[in-house]
Amino acid sequence: MEFISNCTTDAILKAAKALKDGHLVAFPTETVYGLGADATNESAVSQVYTVKGRPTDHPLIVHISSINQISRWATDIPDYAIKLARDFWPGPMTLILKRSDLAKNFITGGQENVGLRIPSHSLALALLTQFESLGGEGVAAPSANRFGAVSPTTSLAVDEELGRNLNDEDLILDGGACIIGLESTVIDCTRKFPSILRPGAITLEMVEESVGRKIDAHTSTSSIKVSGSLINHYSPKARVRLNELAKPGEGFIAMAGIRTPEGALRLASPVNVEEFARILYEALRDGDRVNLNEIKVMYPEGDGLAKAIKDRLIKSSMERESH
Ligand code: TXA
Ligand code: MG
Repeated sequence: MEFISNCTTDAILKAAKALKDGHLVAFPTETVYGLGADATNESAVSQVYTVKGRPTDHPLIVHISSINQISRWATDIPDYAIKLARDFWPGPMTLILKRSDLAKNFITGGQENVGLRIPSHSLALALLTQFESLGGEGVAAPSANRFGAVSPTTSLAVDEELGRNLNDEDLILDGGACIIGLESTVIDCTRKFPSILRPGAITLEMVEESVGRKIDAHTSTSSIKVSGSLINHYSPKARVRLNELAKPGEGFIAMAGIRTPEGALRLASPVNVEEFARILYEALRDGDRVNLNEIKVMYPEGDGLAKAIKDRLIKSSMERESH
């Protein structure tokens, strides 16, 4: 694996060629780092599953550089999905649409739907544009972590998670710390009305404003599989417990106004909800880096981004059989 910290246009061209040749490229987006592969190359995509240790029936998001690419990957696109795409792409939103023939089972986990996203990070967009100019159709990219673990928001975290599993010709591109820090909002656009499958920085309120109606925050009836909706997700090695004060020797994450309990190790003290989202995963990782057994997190209540933070933290605090 090669780690590239100065992503000049030459480096981006090299990375796009590596993708075309069937290698893996980890790259930054505004949400979290992704582990990219040519979304039309079955063996490259299967390598992504191997490197992550992820079950193969879990679908991957296809990343594209422009709205014109949607119709390559999806059919029967509802008007509200076009509206969402126009309002929030490039950005932290994934649309689940009826797949075209280009979206094979090895991308969709055998489902009839495909997840599409145009990220806004300039390095991600440059890579996708370069890849498409070499004849590529889209880059499949799950978060660049081992299955069940915390998503990486820095290139160092990608290296810690996956570095030893990557091949010599695979790349990790450094583009700094991700500015949002939580995975994209996933919106099911396969029905008459949209519904949110995974909350994120494009909030329920923003989606309702865009489509001009109230929508469901979660559909229990949906048959779509969202791996992040399983338990055992977003978990550091340390045990995470919510809304309790930390004891001596434990890690503590809370808003700046909340004092650190005596003897606890303060891992983060964000001043607002946006900062909480941005630094949460790296703070959990910091707890693992110093081998804490337990991290106590007091999360902010509220709508919008606070809901996405709560969603991830509840999953990361679920009991696990082993880790
Ligand atoms: O912010 C993000 O979305 C990041 C960056 C790299 O783009 N990617 C990401 O990928 O979080 P991943 O694979 O870790 O999570 C993608 C989520 C999963 O919960 C997956 O089940 C869902 O999106 N998803 C992807 N394709 C789908 C499909 N065809 N149908 C239903 N859900 C899908
Ligand atoms: Mg993930």
